[in-house]
Amino acid sequence: MTSRERFLSAAACQPLDRPPLWVMRQAGRYLPEYRALKAKSSFLEMVRTPDLAAEVTLQPLRRFALDAAIIFSDILVVPEALGQGYKFRDEGGIAMEFRLENRAQLDRLNADGVAERLDYMAQSLARVKKELKGEKALLGFGGSPWTLATYMIEGGSSEDFSRIKELFFTDRPFFDALMEKLTRAVIEFFHMQIRAGADAIQIFDSWGGIIAGQDYEAASLRWMREIIGAMPKDFPIILYAKGAPMQLTDMAFSGAKVLGVDWTVDLGVVRRLVPDNVALQGNLDPVLMNTTPEIVRREATRLLETMRGTRGHIFNLGHGITPAAKVECMQALVETVTQWK
Ligand code: CP3
Repeated sequence: MTSRERFLSAAACQPLDRPPLWVMRQAGRYLPEYRALKAKSSFLEMVRTPDLAAEVTLQPLRRFALDAAIIFSDILVVPEALGQGYKFRDEGGIAMEFRLENRAQLDRLNADGVAERLDYMAQSLARVKKELKGEKALLGFGGSPWTLATYMIEGGSSEDFSRIKELFFTDRPFFDALMEKLTRAVIEFFHMQIRAGADAIQIFDSWGGIIAGQDYEAASLRWMREIIGAMPKDFPIILYAKGAPMQLTDMAFSGAKVLGVDWTVDLGVVRRLVPDNVALQGNLDPVLMNTTPEIVRREATRLLETMRGTRGHIFNLGHGITPAAKVECMQALVETVTQWK
């Protein structure tokens, strides 16, 4: 069985001898070969240059026997394609070109032709697809409308998210108009990624955990459900929200085939709460990758044992790998999962 088949079987909750494994690198610069490329080009140059983006996508796969590749890009390319660019702050975090504050600015954001403006990502995907030769799964991704909106309304990374929350509570028509625009753009963006060869797509609701629980539906989930509903029938969508484990039982009815789970919950408990036609992806604490190979082996085995006998587990970290991760810990993780019986 190829890695690609293993991944798609897990996403479809078919029985398997071991779960497929992949890891997100977001904010992770742990590989020396990545840092070497980064010394010559900026992050955004790499994202926008299909040859470079394809090369960076494949770097972890050359080193480790992973079952899937996630395309090298960023969730914020969508606001940028709408007309709100961004850069990285020297002290860390994101700075948007401006803060979205009024209707006139929102009206200027152009959701038509988003896929054309992001064509470089289609080209990156097509290049990686060719290299993978159908043997490994290729994952596309995008931010949820809520998570993208936090950056757009806050004007970048935020500590307290007060602006986006105040908007949600004080001007629902404006909030909804922004979400409608983003939902449309993300649907177009995902259709483009599917045409370019993505085998599955992960939606990152990275800031889903800051919403009051009873507002999760109106602020985030309904827009993601709309996106999933607009995808081809049975196309695997992985829905990941960080810090929102209490929302998993509702997310299970979003149409997503897979739920990404962060490390704050016991995956065995989640398995008992979520219907068994929905696969689970996760959920080692990424900090484990900064410790020792022995500790990684022990904790990865513990998670594998927790999920033994269940269907539909995609082995993953509970969030992205961090810059402080050690290559030997990644190696230990890959060996533990791929040799597990
Ligand atoms: O594994 C991969 O390479 C996948 C590509 C990927 C990146 N970003 C590359 C990246 C993915 C899937 C993302 C998603 C992303 N981008 C999210 C959602 C995931 C999550 O973290 O919850 C978010 C919120 C973003 C926006 C973003 N981009 C942030 C917050 C940062 C970190 C900024 C900082 O202060 O460090 C980035 C940068 C980024 N995106 C890097 C990478 C490899 C690091 C860039 C570098 O310094 O080399």
